[in-house]
Amino acid sequence: MSTTAQPCRRLVLGSTLAVGAATTLAACGDGSSAAPDNNPQAVPQPSGDPVTVADAADLPVGSMVNVAREGTKDAYLLYRQDEKTVLAYTSVCTHAGCRVGPGEGDFHCPCHDSHFSADDGTATAGPARGALTRYAAEISDGKILLYP
Ligand code: FES
Repeated sequence: MSTTAQPCRRLVLGSTLAVGAATTLAACGDGSSAAPDNNPQAVPQPSGDPVTVADAADLPVGSMVNVAREGTKDAYLLYRQDEKTVLAYTSVCTHAGCRVGPGEGDFHCPCHDSHFSADDGTATAGPARGALTRYAAEISDGKILLYP
């Protein structure tokens, strides 16, 4: 995982080309995350052995949390969409690999201020151009199970 700031590709181009630099800089900093690879992924079906990552009671409807998988460096974002639904995503930012965490109504990457939808993982603001990878998750017997 890298926490080093990486310049926006368009910014690099703008700094090496005298002509059109203002246009490319403006495009880089527009906050838009629309891109072909920003389509929401389908929710994966549970398969393989699940990992218990939290108690369902600790994640009320509408809340989000970043959980670590015990014994690994892997971390995941959980969003309790309703009583029966938990959505799971990687916490690795699609921009430069920083750790994404819960924000205010969405997921937020503090490194360069990207935002992601809690409903489908798509990038909604900032330099990130891709949706977060999704994982299957479910609630069973009061536990939140993740299928990494
Ligand atoms: S690593 Fe740059 S916005 Fe997340």
